[in-house]
Amino acid sequence: MTRPHSILSTSTPGGVPVLHYGADYNPEQWPDEILAEDIALMREAGVTMVSVAIFAWAELEPRDGEFTFERLDTVIEALHEAGIAVDLATATASPPAWLGLAYPETLPVTREGVRLGHGSRQHICPSSPVFRRYSARLASRLAERYGTHPAVRLWHVSNEYGNHVARCYCETSAAAFRDWLRERYATIEELNEAWGTAFWSQRYDSFDEVGVPAATPSFPNPGQEADFSRFSSDELLACYLAEKEAIREHSNVPITTNFMADFPPVNYREWARHVDVVTDDSYPEPVSQLAAREAAYVSDLMRSLGDGRPFYLMEQTTSAVQWRERNSRKRPGVFTLQSLQRVAHGADAIMQFQWRQSVRGAETFHSAMVSHSGRESTIWPEVVGLGHDLAALSDVVGSRVHADVALLMDWDSRFHRASAIGPGPDRGDAALRAWHGTAFERGYPVDVVFPDSDLRGYRVIIVPELFALSADLAAALTDAAHAGTQVIVTAPTGVLDDTGRAIEGGYASMLSDLLGIRVLEHRLPAGARPREVDPRVDTISAHIHPAGATDEVGIEVVPGSALDRTLERIAHPKPAPRGSLWAEELALEDDVEVLATFSDDDLAGWPALTYRPCGAGGGTYAATDLDAAGRAALLRLAEARARLCPPELPGGVESVRRGEFTFLLNHGERAAELSGQVGLNVLTGTRVTGHLVLPPRSAAVLREEEDA
Ligand code: GLA
Repeated sequence: MTRPHSILSTSTPGGVPVLHYGADYNPEQWPDEILAEDIALMREAGVTMVSVAIFAWAELEPRDGEFTFERLDTVIEALHEAGIAVDLATATASPPAWLGLAYPETLPVTREGVRLGHGSRQHICPSSPVFRRYSARLASRLAERYGTHPAVRLWHVSNEYGNHVARCYCETSAAAFRDWLRERYATIEELNEAWGTAFWSQRYDSFDEVGVPAATPSFPNPGQEADFSRFSSDELLACYLAEKEAIREHSNVPITTNFMADFPPVNYREWARHVDVVTDDSYPEPVSQLAAREAAYVSDLMRSLGDGRPFYLMEQTTSAVQWRERNSRKRPGVFTLQSLQRVAHGADAIMQFQWRQSVRGAETFHSAMVSHSGRESTIWPEVVGLGHDLAALSDVVGSRVHADVALLMDWDSRFHRASAIGPGPDRGDAALRAWHGTAFERGYPVDVVFPDSDLRGYRVIIVPELFALSADLAAALTDAAHAGTQVIVTAPTGVLDDTGRAIEGGYASMLSDLLGIRVLEHRLPAGARPREVDPRVDTISAHIHPAGATDEVGIEVVPGSALDRTLERIAHPKPAPRGSLWAEELALEDDVEVLATFSDDDLAGWPALTYRPCGAGGGTYAATDLDAAGRAALLRLAEARARLCPPELPGGVESVRRGEFTFLLNHGERAAELSGQVGLNVLTGTRVTGHLVLPPRSAAVLREEEDA
C-alpha cells in the first residue's frame, strides 16, 4: 500500500522548517545511564535529529523471532521529550550471528568462491530470499511499533548498500542472475548476441547454462560482467524495496537509505527514484588541498540525483576517520566551513558519524561529535558553534541552487567501461571529478545530468569520457547544442554503443553532427618506464624508440586561435596545456576548427582539440586528457561563447547562491576582502554594505533584504 508522504514531514511538528543537525546515535554500545548525559549534550549542541539503531539488529532480535524493543522505546521517548527527531534505521546492515549460523546461504560468496563470515558487518547475500524475509520482518516490526511515533521523522533503511559487499557469487545469486537475464533477453540468442559469445566459444544453448562471472582463467566476458554489475545494483535495490514496502504498510514517514558519493557499483540515478530524500555519506581527505572541491562535487551530485531537490548529508566526520593509513585531523574551522558549503550546494541536513566516539570496536579512533575527551575536546566548541549556525539558516530549507554548467554522468557507461578490456585504463570517476573541479575553481555550481535528465537550458554541458553512448543521448546532446548549449566532449567517448558493441566507422561518430569528428584510432603514450636497455651493449634495442616515453602528450595550440587568445587572458606567461593518457587520430569534417594539434611523435600535426559551431551552440572535442590549464582554457572558451560571466572573487573564496542566500566561503589560509557585498549576514546578524572581510577558513551567509 502506498500512502502520500512528504519530505516536509521531516521538519518539526507544525511544519516549521529545520536544517537538521545530528549524528548516528548508537546507545546500544553504552550503559543506560549515558542517555541523560547524551541528551543534555545534544541540546547544548543544537542537535535536532539523530539516526538510531543502524547496527542494532543483534540487540533488537537477539534470537530468531524474539524482539526486545524496550530499550529502543526508552531512547526514542527520551529523544522525543527533548524535541530531537529520530531517523530510525531498520537495523539490517549487520545481521546477528544466529542468522548466518542457521542459514549460511545468507552469507555472501566472493568471486573466488570464499563464503564470508560473521564478525564484521554487511555479511549479506543480496539475493538470499531468507535474508530478504528476515530483514523485511524486522523492518515491519519496527514500523508497526514506531511508524506513527511523532519523534520518527525519517526511515533509514539498512546502511550504505553495497559498501563492503556489492556482489555475491553464490548459487542463489547465480539462479537470480539467470532469472534477471531471462527478463532482459527474450531468447538465449539475444543474450549470445549481446555478450558476443561467438568469441572464444562462449556460446550458450540455454539460460540454464549461464553462471555468474566467477573466477575465470583469463578475461571474463565483458557483456556478462556489465550485466552482472547491473544485476547486482538491482539486487541491492530489491533488498531496499522489500524493506521499504514493509515499512509503508505501517508508516507514512519518508524513507531513505544513505548513498556514498558516486560509488561505482550502485546505480544511484536509478535508486534516487525510490528514496524520499537523497542522502549521502562523505569523507574528503582532510589534508588534501582538494577537500573543498570534493565536498562541492559530491554535494552537486546528490542535489542532481534528485533533480535539484535538497539532499541530506547523512554522514561526515567532525575531524579524523580511522580507516585511512594516516588519519589526519581537520584544521580548526574546516568542519564548520565544509558543512556550510554542503548547505550552500543544497543540503538540508548536516549529520555526522557518529554522536559519541566508541571506546571499543573497529571505529574506536574515528572522531565523533562527543570525543573521548568529551566537552574538553577542541572539537566541542566547533560542534556547538555549527549547531548555532545551522539554526540561523533554517529559512534556507527547501530552496534551490541554480546551475548554468552541467556535467554528464551515466552509470551504465561506467558499468561498460569497468567491464570492457579497453584500450586504456579505467580511471573510474577521475575525469568527472577533474572537470567538475575545473568548473568549481572557476566559480560555477554544477548540475550533474544523466541520460534521462532534461538537458535544455544549460549554457555549458561537459561530457567527460562517456565510453558507451546511446544514439538517444547523442541526439539529446546535439539538440541541446542546436538550442544554444556549448558542449565539451572528451576522449574516449562513444567507443561502444549502449549495448556494449564497438562502434565501426569511427568512434564518436554518433556525435558527428555536433562535433564534426570521428575517432579512427586510439593511441596511448607508452608512459614513463624504467630504463630497459644499456646503449653500450644493447646495440639493436638501444636504437628503437617507442612513441611517447612519458605519460604526457604534447600539444601545440594554433597561434592566434580563440584558444590561444583565451590562454593569454588566463595568465602571463601564457600556460601551455598538456595532455596525457589518450591521443586519438581524428578524421574531421570540413567546417571543424582545429584549436590545437598534437606535437609529439607519430601524431605530430594531427588535431588534438577541435571546435565546431552547431546551431546556436557548438561542440568542442578534446582528443586527450587535458591538464588543469587545458581544461580551464576550454571552459573559458565555452563560457565566452555561451555569454556566461562568473563572479570575480579573491583567491580561496567560493560563492554559491541558494534561493535568496549567498554563501561566501573562504577556504583559504588568508583573510579575504570582498567588495560589493550587500545583505544581512545571517550567521552574525550583522548588515553588510559593500566591504566584507572573511577570516581564513570561515563563511558568511548573506540574505537579500527587501528594502536593499
Ligand atoms: C560509513 C558507515 C558508518 C561508519 C563510517 C566511518 O560511512 O556508514 O557506519 O563506519 O563509514 O567513517
